[in-house]
Amino acid sequence: MKQKIIITGGTGYIGSHTAVEFIMKGFNVVLVDDLSNSEVSVLDRIQEITGTKPLFEQIDLTDNNRTKSFFNAHKDASGVINFAALKAVGESVKKPIKYYHNNINILLNVLENMENQGISNLIFSSSATVYGLPDVLPITEENQTKRPTSPYGNTKKVAEEIIEDLTKVSESLNAISLRYFNPIGAHDSLKIGEAPNGIPNNLMPFITQTAAGIRRELKIFGNDYDTPDGTAVRDYLHVVDLAKAHVLAFERLISNQSKSNFEVYNLGTGTGYSVLDVINSFEKTTGISLNYSYDKRRDGDVPQLYSNPNKAQTNLNWKALLTLDDMTLSSWKWEQNLRNGY
Ligand code: UFG
Repeated sequence: MKQKIIITGGTGYIGSHTAVEFIMKGFNVVLVDDLSNSEVSVLDRIQEITGTKPLFEQIDLTDNNRTKSFFNAHKDASGVINFAALKAVGESVKKPIKYYHNNINILLNVLENMENQGISNLIFSSSATVYGLPDVLPITEENQTKRPTSPYGNTKKVAEEIIEDLTKVSESLNAISLRYFNPIGAHDSLKIGEAPNGIPNNLMPFITQTAAGIRRELKIFGNDYDTPDGTAVRDYLHVVDLAKAHVLAFERLISNQSKSNFEVYNLGTGTGYSVLDVINSFEKTTGISLNYSYDKRRDGDVPQLYSNPNKAQTNLNWKALLTLDDMTLSSWKWEQNLRNGY
């Protein structure tokens, strides 16, 4: 019998890549999403990649009645991968209630229904934003978490705290929180990838849309940081590497290898690249010269954020394998495929 797992936010950018990896490993996946930031056609595209069309239910998980019936129908699942959340940093600053309401209620409903149905294993999709402005780099999981610079970020920090509190009293809950650095790139098949609504907030889709002529010019937010070239440094990792970490983390949970029932892992390459490094890699791999200029720093941005991913390597046997050039080229190929209707 194939093990069943529930993936919330399963048609989204990271959710869909993770669904593919779980299907390829022989799991039976059930996706749930409200389709507020993704398309139902992702299911067909997952089928084109894997040969299997996953079960899907369109549900707003803040609605606990619908969440209850969903979990009741899938009580045989061995775990949940919880991606469902709003994630636009800037919007969260303007609409904090929307973000706290959505991201925290989804988590609470998922946790309550897992408990009611006796589902014990949870992977939570967290973010490096829980480290706030770090004192020491690279960041290990031992680094203290700090107040994130946005309500979105704070929903991730508070969510981790809720899960940790629950694992202290729950008889069954066994959770791993994965703290992503900056995922970019797309699946090799070019059938799935990042497809932001409207003007992208993140660097990579802004670069590819500028190269595609959809945006006139990329603005680099700040060139006066205390970094080698003055632009901000992040730890970019390929979304397929990231997706694979979820399978390894889940296997750790179901084989009871965790040292405690709440573990956290950084997922990054361990190498920091500046905005200019990303642009240079993009120009080199694609042969396109990008139209960009410098602008002032963006509110809430930290100068540098990169991981020490050793704990994930030791305990999950996970390492990001794809390079920055792989990531920028893959992002560009995906952008072209997206514009051509996949
Ligand atoms: N940047 C630009 N121009 C743009 C967009 C981004 O110069 O048009 C710069 C940013 O200032 C930053 C870097 O590119 O220095 C990366 O920015 P992203 O928006 O791609 O990523 P962030 O590191 O700001 O955000 C990521 C995740 C968030 C998370 C945040 C916390 O996307 O979900 O990390 O660190 F909250």
